[in-house]
Amino acid sequence: MPKLFVNPNLPDYFLSVPEVTSVASARSYVEEYESAKVVVFPGLAKGIDHEFWAALDTDRYPELKKFSPILQPGVEPNEERHQLEKALAVRAVDKLTANALVEQFQRLMAHLIPAYRAIFADYAFDRWKIMLRLNTIMAENMHVDTYKKENEQHFARMFVNLDTQPRIWHTSWRIGDMVERAIGTIPPEQLDGLSRGQVWSRLNANFFGQNSREWWDEQPRHIAFFAPGDVWIVDSRQVAHQIFYGRRALSIDFSVPKQLMKDPSLHYLEIAERFRADNSAAHDATRELA
Ligand SMILES: [Fe+2]
Repeated sequence: MPKLFVNPNLPDYFLSVPEVTSVASARSYVEEYESAKVVVFPGLAKGIDHEFWAALDTDRYPELKKFSPILQPGVEPNEERHQLEKALAVRAVDKLTANALVEQFQRLMAHLIPAYRAIFADYAFDRWKIMLRLNTIMAENMHVDTYKKENEQHFARMFVNLDTQPRIWHTSWRIGDMVERAIGTIPPEQLDGLSRGQVWSRLNANFFGQNSREWWDEQPRHIAFFAPGDVWIVDSRQVAHQIFYGRRALSIDFSVPKQLMKDPSLHYLEIAERFRADNSAAHDATRELA
């Protein structure tokens, strides 16, 4: 169960659903996900050997710090095992560790993926990326996810804390709150000629600074201690977040075609485009009044 410290100066967008324990008790949470909620499933992951993940020596195997086994959904378990073992052998992971990792990983996936599909039931899934995040992270900068290249796809994102320690996140404004506060405050000529992705980055930088050396922004924060075994979903383009401390986690991402969103106007590039237009209109209105 996560321990949440909810800041009264921010909207409370956390939703905890302990009753979801498997695919059988799951329903679609797409509506909550798209409306920028952080939905936590404290009872969903079962049988994770947290001691195993915490003890994995990622200094010895630095390539495991961010390990994304290239697997397609629906691969037959033996074939999947084979692919995983190959990927670990290439990274010179010893056989004993590799066997344990594959066993743990496959057991967790067998339980979680059907639940994941039910939680994102209204989506059809395109490419997927499963990432073991086994590096220690401290005091990331606060941000909504931004990209060098514009990403036309939507995504369905789930996190799992594999560690024996809490994974500590700070979260701040939702993009809707940021847009509301920023409209009319950026001279429109500064946004003219920018791509939608650049407008998005500009919005992010206005609130939270540009990089990890600028994390000491003064925006309010919630604090979430995600317990070992907690599972949560969040559209990390829509909710500002900062990993404050975390060691071992797993993320599951499927790309989802934008037109399959319940509300495609909530895609980040659409939000950026609308912000540019509204910001410009607000400036025009102020000029007319003057
Ligand atoms: Fe992020």
